[in-house]
Amino acid sequence: MAKLKVGVLISGRGSNLQALIDACEDESYPAEIALVLSNVADAAGLKRAEAKKIPTKVIDHKAYEDREGFEDAMQEALTAAGVELICLAGFMRLLTEGFVGRWRDRLINIHPSLLPAFRGLNVHDRVLEYGARFSGCTVHFVRAAVDDGPIIAQAVVPVHQDDDADSLAARILTHEHRVYPLVVRLIAQSRVRVTDDLVTVRDPQAPMGTMINPAPE
Ligand code: GAR
Repeated sequence: MAKLKVGVLISGRGSNLQALIDACEDESYPAEIALVLSNVADAAGLKRAEAKKIPTKVIDHKAYEDREGFEDAMQEALTAAGVELICLAGFMRLLTEGFVGRWRDRLINIHPSLLPAFRGLNVHDRVLEYGARFSGCTVHFVRAAVDDGPIIAQAVVPVHQDDDADSLAARILTHEHRVYPLVVRLIAQSRVRVTDDLVTVRDPQAPMGTMINPAPE
């Protein structure tokens, strides 16, 4: 079976990209990374792709007069690479309605909160300021509004009383690295459907158990 061709868009560290690269190394994984695109020339994630001989391209948004010009360049590169699914992985540029519409239900994002709570930046600081007892991450199809769109999968982690933003981010990140490859696999297996802006997954594994924080004594 032909593998789903994935384009990964990054701006920085690329640890989620790494999780996808690692997943793709398994021969039975139904997706492959056709292109890694970065808007930042020295993004550390580019090295991760180069180390595995995955094609990379830098498209610096600053070189374009407007968002449309930047996105047209990305569109060309993605199309030339035969990309069928775009994964935003720490890609820190807002996308226009035009681009998002062109890739409707073929463009996904990972965000380090339980959406729709805590959209945007400085997520972990705001979770701690609010005193939420749980946080986590969400993979969703992208719509024009920031961190908005049909939810495909989420992972939940407890917030610890002595957490700071870094410790909470690190706890969530380990789960991001599990959830993103899972979602890409489900999409590649054609098990994810969007109907009326709601996602259904064919034959999902229902999670077990409940978490209460603080834990019952
Ligand atoms: C990840 O935590 C991802 O969820 C977040 O940026 C980080 C990128 O890390 N994305 C967003 O906040 C998008 N709204 P990475 O470069 O190591 O994958």
